[in-house]
Amino acid sequence: MRFLVTGAAGLVGSHTVDRLLAEGHEVIGVDSYITGRREFLTGASANPRFNLIVGDLFDFTTVIEACEGVDAVFHLAANTDVRYGTDYPRRDLDQNVIVTWNILEAMRRRDIKTILFSSTAAIYGDSTLLPTPEDGPLAIQTSLQSASKLAAEAFISAYAQGYGIRALVFRFASVVGERCTHGHIFDFCRQLHAHPDRLQVLGDGAVRRSYIDVADCVDAMLLALHHPTPPVGIFNVGSLTSCALTESIGWITSALNIQPAIEFSGPGPAWVGSCPVIYLDCTKLHRLGWQPKLDPEAAVRRTVHYLAANPRLLEPSA
Ligand SMILES: NC(=O)c1ccc[n+]([C@@H]2O[C@H](COP(=O)([O-])OP(=O)(O)OC[C@H]3O[C@@H](n4cnc5c(N)ncnc54)[C@H](O)[C@@H]3O)[C@@H](O)[C@H]2O)c1
Repeated sequence: MRFLVTGAAGLVGSHTVDRLLAEGHEVIGVDSYITGRREFLTGASANPRFNLIVGDLFDFTTVIEACEGVDAVFHLAANTDVRYGTDYPRRDLDQNVIVTWNILEAMRRRDIKTILFSSTAAIYGDSTLLPTPEDGPLAIQTSLQSASKLAAEAFISAYAQGYGIRALVFRFASVVGERCTHGHIFDFCRQLHAHPDRLQVLGDGAVRRSYIDVADCVDAMLLALHHPTPPVGIFNVGSLTSCALTESIGWITSALNIQPAIEFSGPGPAWVGSCPVIYLDCTKLHRLGWQPKLDPEAAVRRTVHYLAANPRLLEPSA
């Protein structure tokens, strides 16, 4: 098959590209390098079945050209800077909603019948139903990023119904692993790289997360793709447990063999829109036979070891 992977140079995108190539498929990647890195595609670029288009998916011409001859689309590109969303009020609308519409409209015109989309567990907001199933109550949206993902999911569903497109939507928990370049695990590693004696944590640190290794995410998407699913299949992707932020800090510091002083910036959440607890019910994926290979501790430790071995990613200039 011939796949289009948007966000091909990112964390999830580059691993998806590698897996699809390893399975013998042809892959077109699109990336603007806004957060992705050319070096993550070094292996793929040596493969004659891989082609990369460097461009911005906000430009419809780029999207329609990239979709030529494609059988299915992994739409993984997005603005992944959640924390500063309110500083740039249009960015999530443009990068997550309009770009998703561009993809869907190009698929309609090119008669492409399958989309796999990376949504986020953040759309469940301050859910009190834990672990949260896919049909759990959707909270009032508290971040522009989660609002834009929910809007993108709605456009995907409507296009799926209206134009006979098969849609697979994956609501990811906190994805970590090799090639991780953002999120709080990365931020903590970057801080500790600069000054191993102290770590500043935004807010009171009273949050719980459900870290999942990127390879497990790719497994989940490919498994669902190869199973019969409803026209719009929605799947939570997270680990079997959740852990306190302080536990993850302990894993990081023990992996680095350091004992920094931990400073919390103040009471309350790290920023407006930061979910207090992410813990997903992934029964739907388990029924298809998916289980994460790494638990949260192993996933975080793998990330820390990778970043320690690739310190250039932690430099401020990176
Ligand atoms: N990493 C997580 O914890 C997490 C959690 C929930 C959801 N997700 C979703 O998973 C997807 C992948 O996330 P990731 O962690 O790999 O992020 P990432 O930042 O590593 O990758 C995103 C990629 O998309 C590219 N991109 C962004 N906008 C683009 C545009 N307009 N045109 C072309 N390229 C563009 C970036 O350059 C980058 O390579 C995203 O949709 C994200 O919202 C990630």
